[in-house]
Amino acid sequence: MKIDLRNKVILVTGAGRGIGKAIASLAGSAGATVAVHAHSSLEKASALSNEIGNGSKAFSTDLADMIQTEALYHAVLSEFGKLDVLINNAGVAISSPPVTDNVQWLEDWNKTMAVNLTAMGLLCKLAIPDFIAHQGGIIINISSRAAFRGDTADYLAYAASKGGVVALTRSIARAWGKQNITAFGVAPGFTRTEMAQDFIDAYGEDYAIKDLALSELTTPKDVAQTVIFLASGLARHATGATIDINAGSYVR
Ligand SMILES: NC(=O)c1ccc[n+]([C@@H]2O[C@H](COP(=O)([O-])OP(=O)(O)OC[C@H]3O[C@@H](n4cnc5c(N)ncnc54)[C@H](O)[C@@H]3O)[C@@H](O)[C@H]2O)c1
Repeated sequence: MKIDLRNKVILVTGAGRGIGKAIASLAGSAGATVAVHAHSSLEKASALSNEIGNGSKAFSTDLADMIQTEALYHAVLSEFGKLDVLINNAGVAISSPPVTDNVQWLEDWNKTMAVNLTAMGLLCKLAIPDFIAHQGGIIINISSRAAFRGDTADYLAYAASKGGVVALTRSIARAWGKQNITAFGVAPGFTRTEMAQDFIDAYGEDYAIKDLALSELTTPKDVAQTVIFLASGLARHATGATIDINAGSYVR
């Protein structure tokens, strides 16, 4: 079976690098028109959207700012006239040790929640009426293994935000299934991206691999392949589920 996303408009947030870039590229190879969102580098996103082709376009906004987040959604809708699949991938992992003073700790907490959960929730809320009007749509939200396994003391906000992603996704699936809206979570484990590079630099690759059942680190492409499968509509009856992609490091 070949995945065919021709005539589908797909918004991928945080597509400037890492997992988001791999998702956008793979969606493009399957024929999709991609709204390539990047945080600040419009040139990077434009280079990728040109490479993808299929009428894809680049957008850049700060998802910590909800006014910009709402503007992003409307800009995508006005550019393409419709949205078929919303892929909320952008995220931050801010280290905020418990010894951090309260003001800084709360700043880190609020920024993490804003980018990882609030912007995601707002984009879902904005897309749902359009999905209803167009007889359906697919939402894919990138969570994390941390939602289920928990994280370290320095990443409490990160784990809490990713747990929120799972609950948000389940609720959308339950609330709007009858309107042909399906929603899926994807929970990567340690994945070889720039977000993970600091950890690899500090502890070495072997240390990261010891944690896995498989013998090599997960790559952005490994995550993207599952995301594209979900975007195809072939997994419709798995709506509400969050799929683990963690090389067997946390089997639940
Ligand atoms: N790499 C991992 O090990 C891992 C593990 C579990 C989950 N994840 C999740 O996968 C997703 C992608 O992460 P990645 O590993 O590719 O990391 P990454 O840091 O390479 O990419 C994150 C993307 O989010 C964007 N982003 C960050 N802050 C933003 C903001 N304020 N406004 C707009 N965009 C913003 C970045 O520009 C970047 O494109 C994230 O949601 C992350 O939490 C990653």
